[in-house]
Amino acid sequence: MSRNSDTALITGASGGIGLELARIHASKGGNLVLVARSGDKLDALKTELETQFGVSAVVIIQDLATPHAALNIFEKTEALGLEIDVLINNAGFGGHGLFHEQTLANTQAMMQVNIAALTELSHYYLTGMVQRQRGRILNVSSTASFMPGPLQAVYYATKAYVTSFTQAIAEEVAAHKVTATALCPGAVATGFVEAGNLEGVGIWKHARSAASAAQCGYKAMEKGELVAFNEAKLRFLVNWLVPLLPRRVVLGLSRQAMEKP
Ligand SMILES: NC(=O)c1ccc[n+]([C@@H]2O[C@H](COP(=O)([O-])OP(=O)(O)OC[C@H]3O[C@@H](n4cnc5c(N)ncnc54)[C@H](OP(=O)(O)O)[C@@H]3O)[C@@H](O)[C@H]2O)c1
Repeated sequence: MSRNSDTALITGASGGIGLELARIHASKGGNLVLVARSGDKLDALKTELETQFGVSAVVIIQDLATPHAALNIFEKTEALGLEIDVLINNAGFGGHGLFHEQTLANTQAMMQVNIAALTELSHYYLTGMVQRQRGRILNVSSTASFMPGPLQAVYYATKAYVTSFTQAIAEEVAAHKVTATALCPGAVATGFVEAGNLEGVGIWKHARSAASAAQCGYKAMEKGELVAFNEAKLRFLVNWLVPLLPRRVVLGLSRQAMEKP
């Protein structure tokens, strides 16, 4: 696909991987709908992309943790007469610590953003894509989706949902010329670390850049790949080692990776 006039809706476009995905899409001449809570950051990005690439960007300020967030967004794009050709469900956040010690409000918000909003947005926009027989979905998941994650139990579980859901809908809509891709990054240097209270966790010492993770995901989406990894060694690890190791060993290693010094 990748017609230059494609309009992409990107959640979590105010920073990190989502912002870089927006830059890539705009650099190809595509228009954008930018979604997040930080209106000032979205406005600055809109100005940057419109000035630099001559595209048009619409800002929607929306907290995805609130019920009906996806419906609000869908109704806004419908009212503007926008056809969404590319849906990028990127917004998400993690957390650190024992599950029972986390506030339930934070856990519920995480499930709402990482799972419910992503699912509902996919529902609303996929219907139009199937009718038009063209469209792409990129869901930003994680290598965390391939194993349980002590000290990030709910986050890892939400990402397992994302990778599973994405592959299943990809198969369902393949005959309609619509693709769905799950991007599964390893550690990436973004606001994710601070937002999730993950400072000091070792794996982020060697984090990749948001721009490189976004390039990997965007390319995979253009090719209609099912699952994309931004690090070859992580692809090997989760596909060939994790499934063969005893569960207790996986749990121990997974916990170790999330321990703070
Ligand atoms: N960084 C990593 O190591 C890593 C690794 C694997 C996967 N990922 C995944 O990559 C995706 C992007 O994260 P990132 O690393 O780029 O982190 P980030 O820099 O913290 O960006 C997260 C984005 O999500 C938005 N967001 C968070 N909560 C929201 C809410 N309630 N409503 C609306 N928007 C919300 C944020 O915008 P506002 O704050 O303005 O609302 C921000 O634009 C996430 O799904 C994350 O799980 C990250």
